Amino acid sequence: MRNHAPFIGMHKTELDTPALLIDLDKMEANIQTMANYFTNISVGLRPHVKTHKTPIIAHKQIAAGAIGVTCAKLGEAEAVIHAGIRDVLIANQVVGTQKVARLINLAKHAEIMVAVDNPQNVQAISEAASTKGVSVRILVEVNIGMNRCGVEPGQPTLALAQHILQSPNLKFEGLMGYEGHTVSKPDLAERDTATREAVQRLVDAKHYLEKHGVEVAIMSGGGTGTFNITGSIPEMTEVQAGSYIFMDSTYHNVEGVGEQFGCALSVLATVVSRPQPNRIVVDTGLKVLAKEFGIPQPTGVAGLEMTGLSEEHGKIEADTNVTLTPGDKLEILPTHCCTTVNLHDRYYGIRNGIVESVWDIAARGKAQ
Ligand SMILES: Cc1ncc(COP(=O)(O)O)c(C=O)c1O
Repeated sequence: MRNHAPFIGMHKTELDTPALLIDLDKMEANIQTMANYFTNISVGLRPHVKTHKTPIIAHKQIAAGAIGVTCAKLGEAEAVIHAGIRDVLIANQVVGTQKVARLINLAKHAEIMVAVDNPQNVQAISEAASTKGVSVRILVEVNIGMNRCGVEPGQPTLALAQHILQSPNLKFEGLMGYEGHTVSKPDLAERDTATREAVQRLVDAKHYLEKHGVEVAIMSGGGTGTFNITGSIPEMTEVQAGSYIFMDSTYHNVEGVGEQFGCALSVLATVVSRPQPNRIVVDTGLKVLAKEFGIPQPTGVAGLEMTGLSEEHGKIEADTNVTLTPGDKLEILPTHCCTTVNLHDRYYGIRNGIVESVWDIAARGKAQ
């Protein structure tokens, strides 16, 4: 690990670039705003670690009231469990002998819970858990319209739940459904309708199981765009929002979300060239900025439009009255915080323009 001490106390503009910055005041406000929503309702917040991939931030979310965390990958779960977090949901399928062995080892050290959507996987986890003498908590993932993973509601969900109930060393806890097809619909009314329709599939699945004598203790789902829609449905018990911690320009345009959470993440860039009065080139390309949700834009300086990214260059069209010259720095606002974070080794936490903390992104690149 690099010695971060020399960075503390620097002004952010003194940092070498590209550098990933967190506005700590905004991040803390985001944590609090989300925590406040969940304070007075019976649904719990289980924030998704895939956004920040960093144990200290997960600890802050838990300190503010979160019931545990959600992970997408075993590598993320390992990173947070090694840092002392105990209640972890892997909201994804963990498949294959090696991965199941890692899952079972984690169950020795944490309250691990995992999603499943097929009987072979259930059997593999059950056998490995029996051999190791541990119990693993299981959620059945239900397809609620995103058409990614998940069994269909009704009989297929019941059959898988019953299979889990009959499998040694597994504890059937309930159901999970992620409405990924609705979370970022910008129009609030449209998002509300589509989300309620999707979550109803999960609720129907719960009622079907209960009608057949299967108790469903946990109902997990939701994201940043739907936290207070999915969170308001009485049958839900937990919400897996992740992006709210930092936000990005895409979520900022989602009605009802952008107003509540501030954009806390930026990438500091240096102008490396101004070959024409109306063209500026910065050192932030595809290797530090994700662009699957659109080309990220500079923030804080008017008259700039980033028009293209190559591996190590960002091309910006500039009004000729913009005074930036090579060596000057500017901040770029990501269009997708989660995939941008995964491109960086560390965050510089900034307050009032000054570096207050440097945090390694422990689960960066942990795709296995
Ligand atoms: C399973 C699952 N849960 C929750 C989320 C919520 O994420 P966000 O808050 O970024 O919308 C995601 C996002 O990809 C997800 O895949």
